[in-house]
Amino acid sequence: MKNRNTHSAVQYRRMTADDLPAVHKLSLSVLWPHRLEDWKFIKELGEGIVAETESGIVGTIMCWVHGPNYASLGMTIVSPDHRREGIANELLSRILREAGDRTILLHTNASGVQFAEHAGFVQNGWVHQHQGSVFRAPFVALGAGERIRPIGPRDEAALADMASRSTGMPRATVIKHLLDAGDAVAIDRYGELVAFAALRKFGHGYVIGPVVAPDAERAKALIAHWAGTHAGAFVRVDVPLSSGLSPWLTEMGLVQVEETVHAMVRGEPPRPDPAITRYALLSQSLG
Ligand SMILES: CC(C)(COP(=O)(O)OP(=O)(O)OC[C@H]1O[C@@H](n2cnc3c(N)ncnc32)[C@H](O)[C@@H]1OP(=O)(O)O)[C@@H](O)C(=O)NCCC(=O)NCCS
Repeated sequence: MKNRNTHSAVQYRRMTADDLPAVHKLSLSVLWPHRLEDWKFIKELGEGIVAETESGIVGTIMCWVHGPNYASLGMTIVSPDHRREGIANELLSRILREAGDRTILLHTNASGVQFAEHAGFVQNGWVHQHQGSVFRAPFVALGAGERIRPIGPRDEAALADMASRSTGMPRATVIKHLLDAGDAVAIDRYGELVAFAALRKFGHGYVIGPVVAPDAERAKALIAHWAGTHAGAFVRVDVPLSSGLSPWLTEMGLVQVEETVHAMVRGEPPRPDPAITRYALLSQSLG
């Protein structure tokens, strides 16, 4: 293990928009797929702290506040040359001030579990990351009076309401930002929206999410819609294990990447409305 005192040369400060090219380089160095635009998208919604040495930015962490009771953490990265020097611990203790006494959610792969547990997080679920190219999307029948249609500006409140109920957290800000950056379709039943799914550019291609629906069949119909309209493109979708969608996604060509992602929480977990389910995440950072 390296000498923990080496971190005395590290400075910590708030992340600014000017840091995005450097933090993007850092995330590429640990093989995360985010584009510069993806960093911009999440930075516009949250706050970050960077750790910096004379040679540049060596660590990042970000926090997104979701109303008075919840926040999420993400983009926790320390350069491989500076690991086990206490940098992530210091970044975390500084960003926790942003979150106050809110419940905090995060997603991490196995390499971050011990770090998160050390900070008082406990596991409360699993997420499967599926990706690949779909060449023929399956047909999924809708119910009587239902059709998939594009979202218009007047649908934003209905989407925010469904998203908030499905996560148990306020989502109006996130949904507004998402609709500026990507596209969404909804299932309309006799003029009422009952489910929706967004798609935006991300990483090597596109990400489908969030997908919010009252049941798995409607979630599948929405995912199949986006996969079909982007046939042959690289598509990613992150689904909670509890969604039960993994075998269906694998069958259509979206295979699960090897590692299962740990969903972790510090504090009282949010309580989603059981009548509507988040079948796919918007992102691991934003939930
Ligand atoms: C996870 C990560 C951010 C830790 O950064 P770090 O600066 O090396 O972590 P720290 O030195 O501050 O250590 C923080 C705590 O995490 C745990 N930890 C960190 N690296 C660990 C390792 N390789 N094995 C076991 N525990 C580890 C320890 O509990 C440690 O505290 P302790 O040494 O006081 O017991 C870093 O390994 C990383 O960037 N990984 C790749 C990106 C990633 O997976 N991010 C998700 C994190 S939620």
